[in-house]
Amino acid sequence: MNRKQGRLPLLVKLPSIIVNKIMPQQYRYIITKSLFILTLICFTSTLSNSNYGQGIDEPLFTHGVASGDPLPNAVIIWTRVSRHTLSPVTVKWTIAKDKKMTQVVKSGELITDRSTDYTVKVDAAGLLPATDYYYQFKAGHTLSVVGKTKTAPLGNPVKLQFAVVSCSNYAEGYFTALDKIAARNTLDAVIHLGDYIYEGTQRNFNSRAVLDSEETTIVPSNKAEWLAYYRKRYAVSHLDSNLQHAHQQLPFINIWDDHETVDNAHKDGSYMHDPQSHGLWEDRKAAAKQAYAEWLPIRGDASRIYRSLKFGNLMELILLDTRLEGRDPQITNAADNRLYDENRTILGNTQRQWLLQKLSSSTATWKVIGNQVIFSDFHVEWAAGTGLFADKIQQLENNLLDYWQGYPAERHKLLSHIEKNKINNVVILSASMHCALAFDVFESDEKKNTPVTYVPATGKGSLAVEFATPSISSANFDEKIGFYTASAFEASINTTLPLPFNMNPNPHMKFVDLDQHGYFILELTQQRAKASWYFVESVLVPIAGEELAESWYTDKDQNHLQQDAEKRE
Ligand SMILES: [Fe+2]
Repeated sequence: MNRKQGRLPLLVKLPSIIVNKIMPQQYRYIITKSLFILTLICFTSTLSNSNYGQGIDEPLFTHGVASGDPLPNAVIIWTRVSRHTLSPVTVKWTIAKDKKMTQVVKSGELITDRSTDYTVKVDAAGLLPATDYYYQFKAGHTLSVVGKTKTAPLGNPVKLQFAVVSCSNYAEGYFTALDKIAARNTLDAVIHLGDYIYEGTQRNFNSRAVLDSEETTIVPSNKAEWLAYYRKRYAVSHLDSNLQHAHQQLPFINIWDDHETVDNAHKDGSYMHDPQSHGLWEDRKAAAKQAYAEWLPIRGDASRIYRSLKFGNLMELILLDTRLEGRDPQITNAADNRLYDENRTILGNTQRQWLLQKLSSSTATWKVIGNQVIFSDFHVEWAAGTGLFADKIQQLENNLLDYWQGYPAERHKLLSHIEKNKINNVVILSASMHCALAFDVFESDEKKNTPVTYVPATGKGSLAVEFATPSISSANFDEKIGFYTASAFEASINTTLPLPFNMNPNPHMKFVDLDQHGYFILELTQQRAKASWYFVESVLVPIAGEELAESWYTDKDQNHLQQDAEKRE
């Protein structure tokens, strides 16, 4: 029995004991009942007002703390009141210069209630640039853990470092990578490119349902379609100790992919969304956005998540929404000629104009585009002729149309803009495929008769570079199609194939790994943009080792990749 359970009976019994000792028998019932009701009212009132939490020793902030969207003078801090009545709760917040929270620089209080699922989000302004801060929340007498965050720099920072992650499927494995990231003390922020939650119930051999007791199996067990279910998905993820630790140590910069709403989402729905059984798309989309805004340390209400964040003159991080903002429905067959329709868009016209303007006007050395899906061409059609994995090749080719590959006209517009305006130092971050990839980015769309000027050996003709992050835990190629098939495919995908092919199907693909979970560290200096991929030994256990796989970089104004011989950062 915990302290809360032990105290309540005594609290209720005490008035009765007193009454029984001093009152005549005939008055005892009426007075005892009145005192009992009075005690109950007082107790309920105590729970409801700002003293909530007093005497309760169970954690009030079970879902941890988080921070995000750092600006030079502000950062979002977040928590959730995890135990509450149905009444509003007053929460105090404090930001200090030291871990012990003695040198307080900002503080305030607000009231949270069920309209925001008892989440708490503060846009704490008036801070200094490039500065470490500590923050803490208090409700009643209960304190949250102390979180650490950092504001963005102004001027000319010597170096920036980010961990880039995606696809944290709770059901498919532990967030081992986030434990490793939390331990790094040189990072400016974590960039999460989406699939923070999964609306479905995917389970494979990595499933926590297999590894853990049933309490940790995915909740709810059916698909998230309504606000309460989306909220529950975030609540379950936020109980993960590695995820909590990473949020506690570092600011996050989040964008969503499709699974925060539904698999293969586009502006107007998804083939996985049936209005007959799932309700109106606009209602579902609004619910998914609301839960996202409540549970993540993102600035504002997430009605629009494409935005840019500046890190001094060294980097402008241009974050896109290639899912819900303007995406046309996916073409599901690579042979469908509508694929090449000039008007097909993954961004929508407004967002595309915003992006082009950002790229033209940014004065930062590195224009880093944070984006959900693979940007570069990924040729797989050759594999059908090898007999290797032939039964799945058609499906894979069609699946790739969910990425920029399915929107060639818009990709062409973006690359033309970069080329015409001689915009150097564009770095594209991508995810969603659950693979580690590095590309030289060039115009390669043969069907549009675009002259191919790219020279793989030298990188000449490359207009930008792309780094793709593997999944934190979501199933990779080996977990989907088997280790041997995945390994054979990986070994052939960017090498010169023997006759009758006698060509490299993806010469612009400089690095590929289809099987590993982990993340990459993006390191920027005035001279260089480098990605170093780290793979964890296992997602079958919460804590495991990690290993540096490879590092690739582009030097300033070079716009093509070279491998870092040292490997180590
Ligand atoms: Fe994913």
